[in-house]
Amino acid sequence: MNARDWDRLAAAYEAEVCDIFVRDRRNVIGRWLKARGLLRGKRTVLDLGCGIGSFFKLYGRRFGRKTGTDHSRRMLQIAARRCRQVPDCHWQRADAQRLPPALRDYADLVVCSNVITFVSAAACRRAMRETVRAAKPGGWLLFILPALESHDVVVAFETGRPTAQRKRPTAIVRRDDRIQRFYTAAGARQLAAGAGLRSITVRQVWYPWCDEGITRPLRGHEPPWDWCVTARRPRPQASQSAS
Ligand SMILES: C[S@@+](CC[C@H](N)C(=O)[O-])C[C@H]1O[C@@H](n2cnc3c(N)ncnc32)[C@H](O)[C@@H]1O
Repeated sequence: MNARDWDRLAAAYEAEVCDIFVRDRRNVIGRWLKARGLLRGKRTVLDLGCGIGSFFKLYGRRFGRKTGTDHSRRMLQIAARRCRQVPDCHWQRADAQRLPPALRDYADLVVCSNVITFVSAAACRRAMRETVRAAKPGGWLLFILPALESHDVVVAFETGRPTAQRKRPTAIVRRDDRIQRFYTAAGARQLAAGAGLRSITVRQVWYPWCDEGITRPLRGHEPPWDWCVTARRPRPQASQSAS
């Protein structure tokens, strides 16, 4: 999908697309932010591919300077309106695969939620490289990625067929009119490791069945989920040995 496609989707986005920050009913993301001490000390945050600004709307008051980037003008307009009560928010139109140099080494925390889902693996690698560069050395990154295992469970439930057996760590999935890349847990970890990140953790962030259009889930089945990948940008060798 290009910027124009996202512009068109923007108005309906709030109603139509699962907003993982709000739907994270078990507060996996909030608990991680708290445990890492990121909600203290007015840290700098970059939300790359910020969409309608859901991360800042929910957590923005706990941070200092906040920049949301997106390639969709319309998404940024909606984000700015939704976050108008949140202090120190800045919005910038930028391609996730080619961030402006001013955003290098910029943030204590870089959030990149449901953006690295490009069909092209090379585009995913480019966006990962840019995302990592935007964190300060030693800074944290939080990615949300669509989970292939969860998708397979939903499809099995809908079709009554057995759950797919996957050999590859990622796959391209068509859902309604969107085609995007999904990741297994191993694939999510590989993506982060391939970008040179450290302290990588992959967690499930569950969301309600009804977000998948399933109103009567199987009893005892865990709800669908996205992957929450958290990791750290390494410090350069010299400063690492000095610290
Ligand atoms: C699925 S939405 C996620 C929005 C938000 N991060 C969230 O989780 O609520 C994907 C967002 O990434 C943006 N996006 C996709 N490709 C992009 C690119 N190459 N550069 C910048 N933004 C991009 C879209 O415009 C859209 O706002």
